[in-house]
Amino acid sequence: MTSTSNSADKDTNPVLHKVTLGERFLMVSEDEPLLVQLERAGITVEYQCREGYCSSCSIKLLKGTVVYLSEPLAWIHDGHLLACCAIVKSDIDIALY
Ligand code: FES
Repeated sequence: MTSTSNSADKDTNPVLHKVTLGERFLMVSEDEPLLVQLERAGITVEYQCREGYCSSCSIKLLKGTVVYLSEPLAWIHDGHLLACCAIVKSDIDIALY
């Protein structure tokens, strides 16, 4: 029997990507913003609005790709991401500060 990709597969088998933070790494899904997944792993990231307005959650994106489901209002500096609303779309390397 062959396996096919459909919405049921996506629900039960989320796409995972590796997030490397120095010597640590964790696997994250495309189903939630990066911030909540970092918090769940015990990694503290500063934040205020959690909605893309303030840029308090800005962290360095050293390698890889993230997307935003809606364009954040906060300025995103080159080489950074907004953790509260970034969806990880590839393996990424990040640095907090
Ligand atoms: S916490 Fe405000 S932009 Fe992310």
